[in-house]
Amino acid sequence: MGTYADIYNGWKTDPESFWMKAADAIDWVDKPTKAFFADQGVAGRWYADGSLNTCHNAVDRHVAAGRGEQTALIYDSPITGAKRSYTYAEVKTEVTALAAVLREQGVGKGDGVIIYMPMVPEAAFAMLACARIGAPHSVVFGGFAAAELATRIDDFEPKLIISASCGIEPARVVAYKPLLDGAIDLAEHKVESCVILQREKQTCDLISGRDVDYDHAVTMHRDLGTDVPCVTVKATDPLYILYTSGTTGQPKGVVRDNGGHAVALHWSMKAIYGVDPGEVYWAASDVGWVVGHSYIVYAPLLAGNTTILFEGKPVGTPDPGTFWRVMAEHKVASFFTAPTAFRAIKAQDSKGDWAQKYDLSALRTIYLAGERADPDTIHWLERVSGKPVIDHWWQTETGWTIAGNPVGIEQLPVKYGSPTVAMPGYDIRVLSDEGEDMPAGELGNVVVKLPLPPGSFPTLWKADQRFNDAYLAEFPGYYKTADAGIMDEDGYLFIMARTDDIINVAGHRLSTGGMEEVIAAHPDIAECAVIGIADEMKGQLPAGFAILNAGTDRPIPDIQKEVAALVREKIGPVAAFKILVPVARLPKTRSGKILRATMQKVVDGEEFKMPATIDDPAILEEIAASWKEHSGR
Ligand code: COA
Ligand code: AMP
Repeated sequence: MGTYADIYNGWKTDPESFWMKAADAIDWVDKPTKAFFADQGVAGRWYADGSLNTCHNAVDRHVAAGRGEQTALIYDSPITGAKRSYTYAEVKTEVTALAAVLREQGVGKGDGVIIYMPMVPEAAFAMLACARIGAPHSVVFGGFAAAELATRIDDFEPKLIISASCGIEPARVVAYKPLLDGAIDLAEHKVESCVILQREKQTCDLISGRDVDYDHAVTMHRDLGTDVPCVTVKATDPLYILYTSGTTGQPKGVVRDNGGHAVALHWSMKAIYGVDPGEVYWAASDVGWVVGHSYIVYAPLLAGNTTILFEGKPVGTPDPGTFWRVMAEHKVASFFTAPTAFRAIKAQDSKGDWAQKYDLSALRTIYLAGERADPDTIHWLERVSGKPVIDHWWQTETGWTIAGNPVGIEQLPVKYGSPTVAMPGYDIRVLSDEGEDMPAGELGNVVVKLPLPPGSFPTLWKADQRFNDAYLAEFPGYYKTADAGIMDEDGYLFIMARTDDIINVAGHRLSTGGMEEVIAAHPDIAECAVIGIADEMKGQLPAGFAILNAGTDRPIPDIQKEVAALVREKIGPVAAFKILVPVARLPKTRSGKILRATMQKVVDGEEFKMPATIDDPAILEEIAASWKEHSGR
């Protein structure tokens, strides 16, 4: 392929040729005449006069090319004991039958479908069935509560929802149906029908006239052999909308188009992950997150790999060897997960004995992303696996790697703590708050020069202005990543922290502002601030500091329990909100801004500079004392 420097510089010199060449790997109905259309959309669009179908590219074309008998998807579920695999031809059959069901329910090109599913193969089939008929999907993570689902229903306005009777967590069965019904009741937008997968572990009642039984309906169309051709869509039509935490309780609907997405993801499989068609690739994430969209479902299938859909946890299902077992059993060549998963494994198997029990000879590389990969975890993982460990940095918004180590082009030397260098498509700069270039080695705002590459989001769903305000306005000509970082003299990037209120809890992206909105609604709470504190396993954990209403004399532990339950009910268990500390005052600047970053340093015992603008420095001592007394840490 050449060296990284050649390829990166080649892209920079002539991005148009670079992306037109990459587009050759995709089957188009109408081949685009050029790559970038600067005058379209808020900040330009990719391949705007092209048309294609993503499901065709991910499934049908491999069958047509004679790869129908290759395994496309392996479902490995240590939590239920189930294991199944599907060839490309079988995936085509399943997806087509489900597409027939959707069509029968009146879903057509441009109609929205929400997918609220656990980690079962039907979740992937659902995404592909939507893609097949040109219906944009929006997958909602199963760990979100009814209220979060309702917010997404109202923003996305789906015609139909595909869901399941339950999800299975190690300690409990999560009944999805009450959450789904609750969300539909809460939402103003009325959903016309639901397709429900009944799972053996716990079935549910279906609402007559609204709910369709997944198995029953799919079996009928499978038996009939109903043909549902892939519908041609414009390259710029939305393939999916994925909601991600913003700086308020209102999540942002990240839009992914069809054309740029297919091109970029296909390109990434060889260049970044170093895998060839036919090899097994595994991303241990969840289809509810961007990693699941890009690297459980779309990219490996676009590139003709075998993908693994794993329903389990890194530990406890049944032991900390489960990842190594799956890698060995299915001959995984390239593996991707969040650092927190390995921190959980390390906590139970510090010597790495479990890794030694399995034959990992097929495995070439391990990839980490989703949160900062701490050098300790990388060193440990290199030692126990004997494989290169590659950190790479990206976001829901971009859909694929911004900075990484492109193993399929050239494996660059690792600098621990750095996700390595900018990928072709991304011109990364580090700017001061005033928009000046920071010198090498100095901390600043990490931004990307516009345009963003194919695959990155062109806008937010029905919110061009919010897209502009949140991402483009602050540094004109650049995309603001909201990460702070450093670029060294070799072009290696170091991502240090978020510049907004997003925290990363066990690889899950959450908004502290969203939690504050929920907590402030508790009747005994006058004001509150939520910060992310350091946690050895999850990276960060949310911690709330609350000023109670004057005259509240209820026991603190009762209020703490109620607030934790409220966050769980309104946002979901995934928020992992457990710590609430009552305080008399919150530290603020003289203009009234809460000094959250300083609070975090006080609580984590880090060194900090007393902010010059603080209204009363004594408040920090009060915070530290209340923390000691009430946090339980
Ligand atoms: N449906 C319903 N509930 C869910 C859920 C889902 N899909 N996923 C998580 N939850 C619940 C959990 O059961 C838990 O509930 P609890 O408070 O009753 O115990 C809560 O949400 C927090 O879950 P989680 O964040 O998974 O924490 P954990 O302590 O159960 O496990 C890890 C910790 C590190 C093992 C786990 O978070 C993990 O595997 N993380 C990797 C994350 C990842 O893949 N991120 C994607 C980016 S690559
Ligand atoms: P998400 O949109 O959920 O993928 O979260 C994106 C955010 O996670 C980024 O903006 C970073 O703050 C953080 N992140 C993701 N990958 C990395 C990484 N490799 N190193 C440091 N932070 C990361």
